[in-house]
Amino acid sequence: MTTPDPAAAEPAAEPTVTRLGLPDRAPLGGLPASVRIHEVGPRDGLQNEQTTLPVAVKAEFIARLAAAGLRTIEAASFVHPKWVPQLADAEQLFPQLAGLAEEYPGLRLPVLVPNERGLDRALANGVGDVAVFASATESFARRNLNRSVAESLEMFAPVVRRATEAGIPVRGYLSMCFGDPWEGPVPVAQVVEVGCALLDLGSTELSLGDTIGTGTPGQVAALLAGFAARGVGPERLAVHFHDTYGQALANTLAALQGGVRTVDASAGGLGGCPYAKSATGNLATEDLVWMLHGLGIETGVDLEALAATSAWLAGELGRPSPSRAVRALTG
Ligand code: HMG
Ligand code: MG
Repeated sequence: MTTPDPAAAEPAAEPTVTRLGLPDRAPLGGLPASVRIHEVGPRDGLQNEQTTLPVAVKAEFIARLAAAGLRTIEAASFVHPKWVPQLADAEQLFPQLAGLAEEYPGLRLPVLVPNERGLDRALANGVGDVAVFASATESFARRNLNRSVAESLEMFAPVVRRATEAGIPVRGYLSMCFGDPWEGPVPVAQVVEVGCALLDLGSTELSLGDTIGTGTPGQVAALLAGFAARGVGPERLAVHFHDTYGQALANTLAALQGGVRTVDASAGGLGGCPYAKSATGNLATEDLVWMLHGLGIETGVDLEALAATSAWLAGELGRPSPSRAVRALTG
């Protein structure tokens, strides 16, 4: 071991902070050329915020997300207003979104509908995409939908049938795909069973929800393998990760490696679920876009415009954005 010569030592350099606006591109093999981001901030995000935003702010949020290049933006839910008061103004919101479809061709503004009453409200507002939402576990089905898993599937059946007849695609969400706060780890076979039932009803896409964010990448691969064994390929699947344990990006990469091409995320990492107390925000869209663009994967999103939108919304909500990328880009 050599003793360092103190005379030769350089004076310690002042730490410098480099602010990078865009990630360097360094592709990895076996990943898709593009990913469709299903933005859930205005729905999954805002449904769990303490502050209920004025409808004009919600409309501006959605318009700014569209301007930033997002083309699927889950705008609201038509659930019972007492169950999710933060989104009770969906009827006031939709008229304010009327011009967006013309301005941004291909823009889709899906909503959650739990039952026929919700579908009627969505149809009356000219909605063109809906989603039903089931649970892989009985405990969460009871808490979120006031029904067993089987009863909730019965509730969805006429929704999917009527929407499909009206030419409206129906996304199926499946919650608690990895862990459940009341039941613990959820077996792959149980998740695949309910997921396949949702697809059999006629859902065009199944979004696999890690509602409380406990999943890890090996579990993601195992779940995709479980669906593949039942003939459900990754092209029919989306992933929906909450970031409670910091696993959302790693899980997303595992899903992309497994062939999934649709990823749910919420601008600024907003969100959670009011009926699953350990759920925190979704994977932040900015963190996702940083990784995807770094991998050379197209998203159509202008990252800086998106981060500026989330910083603006954080001001409206009166708290900083939990997204690392938003803080790095706008702090
Ligand atoms: P219920 O109390 O069993 O409802 O709730 P009901 O069918 O017995 O009806 C009771 C009354 O509510 C009736 O009125 C209905 O008309 C009315 P009355 O005849 O007594 O005057 N009603 C409605 N009103 C307006 N809109 C409606 C509606 N439905 C019934 N759609 C229900 C059952 C499903 C309605 C309730 O449990 C509910 O609204 N749940 C929604 C909970 C929710 O939105 N949770 C968050 C979204 S899920 C999520 O975040 C997870 C996800 O992100 C994926 C993941 O992360 O895992 C998707
Ligand atoms: Mg969610």
